[in-house]
Amino acid sequence: MGTQLKDRKIILGVTGGIAAYKACILCRLLVKSGAQVFVVMTPSAAKLVGKETFEALSGHPVSIEIFDRTEDISHIALATNADMVIIAPATANTIAKIAAGMADNMLTAVTLAAACPVAVAPAMNTNMYNNPATQENIQTLIRRGIYVISPAEGELACGVSGTGRMKEPEDLFEDICAILSNRLENKTVQGQLENHQGRLPSPVKPLELTQTRLLPKAFGAGYKVVITAGPTVEDLDPVRFISNNSSGKMGYSLAQVAAALGAEVTLISGPVNLEAPKGVRKIDVKSAAQMLSAVEDYIKSADIFIGCAAVADFRAETISPVKIKKSEDADTLTIKLVKNPDIIATVGKLESNRPFTVGFAAETNNLHDFARAKLEKKHLDLIVLNDVSNKAIGFNSDDNEVTVFDKDGQVAHFEKQPKPVIAQYLMELIFKSAKKKNG
Ligand code: PMT
Repeated sequence: MGTQLKDRKIILGVTGGIAAYKACILCRLLVKSGAQVFVVMTPSAAKLVGKETFEALSGHPVSIEIFDRTEDISHIALATNADMVIIAPATANTIAKIAAGMADNMLTAVTLAAACPVAVAPAMNTNMYNNPATQENIQTLIRRGIYVISPAEGELACGVSGTGRMKEPEDLFEDICAILSNRLENKTVQGQLENHQGRLPSPVKPLELTQTRLLPKAFGAGYKVVITAGPTVEDLDPVRFISNNSSGKMGYSLAQVAAALGAEVTLISGPVNLEAPKGVRKIDVKSAAQMLSAVEDYIKSADIFIGCAAVADFRAETISPVKIKKSEDADTLTIKLVKNPDIIATVGKLESNRPFTVGFAAETNNLHDFARAKLEKKHLDLIVLNDVSNKAIGFNSDDNEVTVFDKDGQVAHFEKQPKPVIAQYLMELIFKSAKKKNG
């Protein structure tokens, strides 16, 4: 796993949390895998672990204050030469400073100047972690494209048990490898150049959610959620079909977030090229008829239904059992299409055991009016509008930008972000709205 770290320049930021001692193990793992590690400590961290320890482990001088070593290691030189900055542990204080764009010590200055991927591994007392101020700061970091590696639950230095324990060094090491290998595999030379000119707008790898958890882990516990995703494929003959460009990324991100928040998730998916998120029951289907049938199998016990699939509105009245041949005497071919069942409208109209029902509206014009009309016509509780005329969002893109409506009007708008991040905002809103409606 660590081969991609060979000769990579990694800045290991260490802040003043008791988990600073674990950063020594992380430092050692990184050095052993061939990375060049430059440790930058905050003044508080230096009170917990001596900088000499990190100097011995990394083989490089450790920086603490901006004016420590102006000649050879300025904060700008450190930042621009680095392949990655990982801050572990990251205290609430340092997270707040980064969110505010401060540069009052070497570590915050390096982070502000960094043009490479930046990751933080929060470690702090549970109340400090759950405090809205910290959560908002974490959201700010995520919005800016910084990886936030969620802390684990467990016994904390303050004696209580809860969320706030820094991930173990071995796990952080894996996360660093994943972040760097994602860049190495996916970025073109142009991409890397752009990377050096400014932080990537969306470095969150779609469908990789290790970095983001804004809500308490059990926020969705007790909920059964059914989600449809991807396209449907309607055969015309053995080799031709009607379908669309849905990649499944939006629906899979929703499923992943819902499962991460403790819900029991069933993902009913058309054909896509994505792995099932961990902990999610995935049912593969092809056509709208099969999708409806799978939805009917699972909907009776569901609390929430989310229709994110791009269901083909029409299918061929009859599927030719053999390849349809070109006729020499005709320039046109007529295939009779019939309407597919409307899956979400079927759920929306259920008279008993109707789940909280959320649709998506893929629109290209009259966006708000069409979305609100669909909400009403399909008897939905919420509808999530995305503008699919914009190639940078919507179908088969890594990002999305959405507006959410209920029967009284607009309830939220989420600016362009990677789909996993949009999924977090949406799942938070959906769980809260479902709780409000159904108690
Ligand atoms: O998969 P990605 O590449 O990540 O792209 C995501 C997406 C653009 C597909 C997604 O964000 C989205 O907009 N999904 C809904 C696509 C769609 O079919 O929209 P629609 O406006 O045609 O349908 C409105 C709603 O009715 C949707 O919830 C849809 O799932 C549902 N529907 C539509 C037709 C049908 N026969 N049955 C349905 O249930």
